[in-house]
Order: sequence, then structure tokens, then C-alpha cells
Amino acid sequence: MTEPYVPIPYTALPHLSDDERIARVRAFRELMEARRSCRMFADAPVAREVIEEAVLAAGTAPSGANHQPWHFAIVSSPELRHRLRLGAEEEEAAFYAGKAGQEWLEALVPLGTDADKAYLDVAPWLIVVFGQRRGGIEPGDKKQNYYVTESVGIACGFLLAALHQAGLATLTHTPSPMGFLRELCGRPADEKPLMVIVVGRPAENATIPLHATRKKPLEQIASWL
Ligand SMILES: Cc1cc2nc3c(=O)[nH]c(=O)nc-3n(C[C@H](O)[C@H](O)[C@H](O)COP(=O)(O)O)c2cc1C
Repeated sequence: MTEPYVPIPYTALPHLSDDERIARVRAFRELMEARRSCRMFADAPVAREVIEEAVLAAGTAPSGANHQPWHFAIVSSPELRHRLRLGAEEEEAAFYAGKAGQEWLEALVPLGTDADKAYLDVAPWLIVVFGQRRGGIEPGDKKQNYYVTESVGIACGFLLAALHQAGLATLTHTPSPMGFLRELCGRPADEKPLMVIVVGRPAENATIPLHATRKKPLEQIASWL
């Protein structure tokens, strides 16, 4: 049965002056500026409730027709994490051996990445993100989903922001191709693995590529019409 349109009052938002808005959005920008992808994790545990809250935050994201076409397979078992590492390293070995092509490999030089994915064994949580081609709001729905990649991308942005707010380091990891993740997480054929979000505390002497701190200035990323 088609759910009817039921209008309810708009969510209460605070009444702020422009100065207050600027202060708030600047504080948020400063918070997000301090996020950096991490490739050297500590094995320190992180409570499951933190991950639950962050995933719930991701689940508040907008999505095509509100179908919420995402699934987060949350891996903490050391055995599964190790299998995920082996699967990823197999793909990455081929990728770095030349499958990626010269231009892509050159783009990765300033990041210093390679086929060794030791962090997949070390970080306490791996969130494998799937996009659902079919679904709907009710469990078991198999309706057409819309704008799956866009919707899941926004949800992952929320997830990264929430985890950063919780003082955790993350890495968006995309072993290519990612088909092995579907089998590893026991997900159905109509779900597409999109990324692995690695979560934990950074290792004590963790470093980051200087390149990652180079963000484009406003003039380069925005035009005002
Ligand atoms: C869609 C996507 C895929 C990525 N895949 C990988 C990856 O497979 N391995 C990796 O080490 N970093 C990966 N990254 C992280 C980027 O290299 C990183 O975001 C970029 O260098 C900027 O650094 P920052 O996240 O610290 O701002 C990915 C990022 C995104 C958004």
C-alpha cells in the first residue's frame, strides 16, 4: 500500500543572528579541518555504543525518496578483520603492480600509500558500507532505489563527521574491486560494496601525508552567481 502524504510542522531550528550563525559554522569548519585520514591505527578498543551512535547519525542523512539505501556491516571480530585485510591486500597488490594505470599511481605518490593494509588488523572497527539497488523503508521491501551512490555518499559524510566529533580517526578505504566484501559480510547480490571506513584511535607516532593538508581555497571550489 502506498503511504499517504502527512504534513507535520517543520523541525524547530534555533533563531540566530548572522553573527551567531557565523560563529557556529566557523566552529564546525574548524572541527572538520582537524579531520585527517589515518593509516596508522592503535589497537585501543572503542566502545560499540560510539559506533552505534555514529551509524545512527549517518542514518539521518537525506536520501532519494527517503529509501535510505545503505547498509553498514560493522566488523570487529579479529578473524573477519584479518580475512578482510587478506582480501584487500590481494586486490591492492594487483592495483599497485600496474592495474591502476600510471596516472592513478602517480596521483597516489604524495599520499605514500601502498599494498600493505596492516591497519585492517589493528583498528578495532571496520565499517563496510553497502549501497542497496533495491529496498524501501519497510524491512524486506524490494522497491527501486534512487540516487543510491549520492545518498550513501552523504550518509558516509555524516558518519565520518560523527566519528571525528567523537575523537576518533578514520580512513575511507576502497580496495578495488570490492566484490569480496559482499561475500565476507554475507550481504545479498543486489547490494554494492562502496567503501570500508576504518575506525579507531591513531597510533602514538602516526604520521599523515603533508599533501592531505592542502585543501583548495574558497575561490577555487565555489562560484557565486
Ligand atoms: C571515495 C574515497 C576513496 C578513498 N580510498 C582510499 C584508499 O583506498 N586508500 C587510502 O589510503 N585512502 C583512501 N582515501 C582517502 C584519501 O586519500 C584522502 O581522503 C585524501 O588524501 C585527503 O586526505 P584527508 O582525508 O586527510 O583530508 C579515499 C577517500 C575517498 C573519499
